[in-house]
Amino acid sequence: MSEVLDLLNEESRQRYLDRACKDGYAVLPDLEALKNRVREKERKAIMDGQREEVSAADAEPNHSAANGAISTSVGTGIERNTSDKTRLLADEDSEDSGRTSGSDTDDDNLAVDDDDDYRSTHSKAVVSMRSKRSMAAESQQMSRQMRFAYWFCFAVVFGAGVSCIVLLILASPTCNTNNSDNGEQLAWWQRNIIYQVYPRSLQDSNNDGIGDLRGISSRVDYLRDLGIRTVWLSPMFESPMVDFGYDISNYTNVDPIFGNLTDFDELIRALHDRGMQLLLDFVPNHTSDKHAWFTESSSSGSNPKRDWYIWQDAASDGGPPNNWQSLFGGSAWQYDNRTQQYYFHQFTKEQPDLNYRNPHVRAAMEDVLRFWLRRGVDGFRVDAIAFLLEDAEFRNETCTLNGSVSVACHEWNTMNHSYTFAQPGFHAIVRSFREVLDSSEFFNATHPKFMVGEMYAPELEDVLELYGNASSPECHFPFNFLLIGLQASDWTGRKIGNVVGQWLNATSKDQWPNWVLGNHDNKRVASRLSASLARTANFLLLTLPGTPTTYYGEEIGMIDGNVTWNETVDPSALNTGDISLSRDPERTPMQWDNSSNSGFTSAGVDTWLPVASTYTEVNVAAQLAQPRSMLQLYKRLAQIRSSEPALQHSSYRLIHATDALLAYAREYTSTTDGSGSTNNQYLVVLNFASTASKAVSLTGSGLAGYQSTGHVQLSASLSTNVSLALNLSAFDMPAGEAYLVKLTPS
Ligand code: NOJ
Repeated sequence: MSEVLDLLNEESRQRYLDRACKDGYAVLPDLEALKNRVREKERKAIMDGQREEVSAADAEPNHSAANGAISTSVGTGIERNTSDKTRLLADEDSEDSGRTSGSDTDDDNLAVDDDDDYRSTHSKAVVSMRSKRSMAAESQQMSRQMRFAYWFCFAVVFGAGVSCIVLLILASPTCNTNNSDNGEQLAWWQRNIIYQVYPRSLQDSNNDGIGDLRGISSRVDYLRDLGIRTVWLSPMFESPMVDFGYDISNYTNVDPIFGNLTDFDELIRALHDRGMQLLLDFVPNHTSDKHAWFTESSSSGSNPKRDWYIWQDAASDGGPPNNWQSLFGGSAWQYDNRTQQYYFHQFTKEQPDLNYRNPHVRAAMEDVLRFWLRRGVDGFRVDAIAFLLEDAEFRNETCTLNGSVSVACHEWNTMNHSYTFAQPGFHAIVRSFREVLDSSEFFNATHPKFMVGEMYAPELEDVLELYGNASSPECHFPFNFLLIGLQASDWTGRKIGNVVGQWLNATSKDQWPNWVLGNHDNKRVASRLSASLARTANFLLLTLPGTPTTYYGEEIGMIDGNVTWNETVDPSALNTGDISLSRDPERTPMQWDNSSNSGFTSAGVDTWLPVASTYTEVNVAAQLAQPRSMLQLYKRLAQIRSSEPALQHSSYRLIHATDALLAYAREYTSTTDGSGSTNNQYLVVLNFASTASKAVSLTGSGLAGYQSTGHVQLSASLSTNVSLALNLSAFDMPAGEAYLVKLTPS
């Protein structure tokens, strides 16, 4: 079977598996075309062999050769024996018609994967075959016995091929190449929670006050016990650390601050040994200005790498070429004295943007992906994905206030980014990254490589385009930042219900959902909301359909640290002079215990950011000891989520939404056991209000098919007895409480 797939080119194999996953058995008729394609290649190989001369020994049919036919007839055809050659020549006429229909197949037909290649192979083979008519005559002399042996073998081979394909479809643990919930098993990236580790802040192993890879390895068991199976590591590549790793000076090495490649290999082994996956942060938009490519590019206007970055002459007044602004403050153009041109940077001036209109840049970045894939990483989070291209004409952007370019725009936030964001053509670059992940070198049907894109955009539909489509997939999903973008006042049942519906309604069945509550660029959820609502929010996160992402420390409800201006290191604050833009507070060290420096590093060590003062109360050790802590809640949620198909799969039905409450059903009916299993139906009820809701009634609001008594499996407070009977027509919801209720069909 794999040999058959090997005969297909990359694109066809992808299409085949996509269709196999999506259409199941419906794809099988295409086997005929696939078979024709295989035969065509065999013919060519045989003809090539014949041109080199057929030996007498080869021409002697025997049974072991016929066995060989079994093993090679779905293979490359290179070791084809004479009985095959004879059969192919004798079959020529009848197969001509098959080839014709094969070549008519449209682009969507997986079997005729590359029409040009197919046609040229086909015509060469036909010409060659016609010149070998004498061989066909010879073949007709074959004994009936040998013909029978051949056809018997052929039937066995073909039957085995069909069986393999059917088995592949049935036994494949997941429809790996598309994003849909196929009703049965899900891919690892659909099942698992993504846990984001900010390497500087998880664990310091060498007492320099900065987290590192060995530190992370030492906490892998903690993550596993928490219920985490996918770890996303923010950048740990060589970097001058102007933007704390998002300014990379060498994409294929670990920064000495974090360790070395051996430490990296140990980390990945530690994760894989525990059945966990590792995602790296891929930063394709810009390098560090200390990267060798930029050193070359800026060395002279004629350097071969000059065009790897975006260089422009000054405007007529000597100022920047246009009004484009940097996200981190000021003009996005930096003047270079040596070569007397400006270079473009979306972020800090130490992060020059790469020029993706130069194909060498894309090729080089694809090699970066390959480097880490070869080291075993399971996928990537793609940074700043919508910034990859800029307007080729370098037109001025307009101000959001009045749409005018004549009004000076001094801040990125006051401008329409019509020429520097999500430019035409950027999806093709994203697709090319995905193609690397799906290429034959890394293709693994049961364990596909994964890609998630980072794009904050005003229009949801622009973000959703990052899914691509079945024939040109891009990201497995783009991060869903709808929850992270909400103000505290938005956290009402109604608004959250709308937001959830917004994503789910805008996506198709093939577009797997996901939810993000926190990351290294946004205030922590416990700071955005409150410590108690952080529990409710995590309850939501882990019971919604789709992949959840948790930022380190959110499982214990860490709140933002208090980082003074003197302690501030984030360039987005330093460059703008605005401490409210600082991302340092959400990046403070992980709080492991109540020892000095919170177990992040040894006592007395100066940490890169101050440990948040809450560490004495809010820490892992304390919460492991408290039966109703946030950490215990998180573990229970992760556990139940991983074991309950209704919570893993993507079904979601809104039941009830008011200012205070949100209720939704998560229902799953097994399609494999044939029983139409009814015990996988859950109701989630959340109270986002700071007051209790009394005598809530949910019967009659979409729960008609269920008994009016449900059983609480988990509550956000962890104070409710498991299996407590809940009268769904009249129950109380304390402030901030959430219930996961098992439903029983009536
Ligand atoms: C997005 C990252 O999340 C952020 O931390 C970084 O500063 C910018 N990209 C620039 O790489």
